[in-house]
Amino acid sequence: MNKNIRHFLRVSDLSYNEIQKLFARSTVLKKQVEKQVFEQVLQNRTLILLFEKHSTRTRLSFEVGMQQLGGNSIVLQMRDTQIDRGETIEDAARVISRMCDIVMLRTFEHSKIEAFAKNSTVPLINGLTNEHHPCQVLSDIFTFQEQRGDILGKTISWIGDINNMCASWIEASNIFGFKLHVSSPPQYKHLLEELNISQSNVEYFADPIEACVQSSLITTDVWTSMGFEQEKQERLKTFERWTVDRRKIDAANKDVVFMHCLPAHRGEEVSADVIDGPQSVVWQEAENRLHFQKALLEHLIKINEA
Ligand code: CP
Ligand code: NVA
Repeated sequence: MNKNIRHFLRVSDLSYNEIQKLFARSTVLKKQVEKQVFEQVLQNRTLILLFEKHSTRTRLSFEVGMQQLGGNSIVLQMRDTQIDRGETIEDAARVISRMCDIVMLRTFEHSKIEAFAKNSTVPLINGLTNEHHPCQVLSDIFTFQEQRGDILGKTISWIGDINNMCASWIEASNIFGFKLHVSSPPQYKHLLEELNISQSNVEYFADPIEACVQSSLITTDVWTSMGFEQEKQERLKTFERWTVDRRKIDAANKDVVFMHCLPAHRGEEVSADVIDGPQSVVWQEAENRLHFQKALLEHLIKINEA
């Protein structure tokens, strides 16, 4: 076991101060990309990306980020590895981590990423599990602060499924000190309780429009996450009133922004006029995955070598 390695499996694995430093560094790295200047701080470093689920943004942002930092990346689809033929995740972690400087894993159960982390000799980044999506939520908060300033004390509305993204927003609300209004169909309310929420800054709303009142940021995600495809038809009906549409935007603050981690389904969790409208910052949000994760890669490699 490698207890001393700092991994990034959930938002709360980083302190507030560390995140602020990462945001400052992300801003510098972003400006450098605009000027086509690249600090090659990860020369001869290798990132291995292991995917058990589909991805566009996560794969691209990590691969391009690593290239811009002067390092290399290798993508492994889990179905092509021996894990698919019965090799344990623990054994795979022992081997993979001996071949690289940092690993990113996208998988199903969070217990799997924890098992990998326990057996890895290099830092591990969560590129999404059923329970958390920390790289996305920190990139989103970085995006919010770029657009609107400090998120402290603001009201953020999570409209839709109580999923991995929602769980990471809940953790972030505690660290950053914002209010999180969560609105989901009442039959899913128990998921909030199962997330062990004792935080007074998280409030459940049965009415999605009410959840948007006084909001500075309305955000949502697909109604059917990867791994839950068999529930798709039922979810399409249950979540019908939870589409982020013009009425929800109109209920919020005048300067509200809209975010979605993407991929989006227009006409389901968000209407086309909202995602393609003036409040939407979804493309900036997607781009910021690149800048934030470059800062994260650099930070995790550096602190684990200190
Ligand atoms: N938002 C996000 O993680 O996108 P991908 O599934 O395309 O990586
Ligand atoms: N909640 C979604 C996010 C995709 C980036 C999923 O897990 O499929």
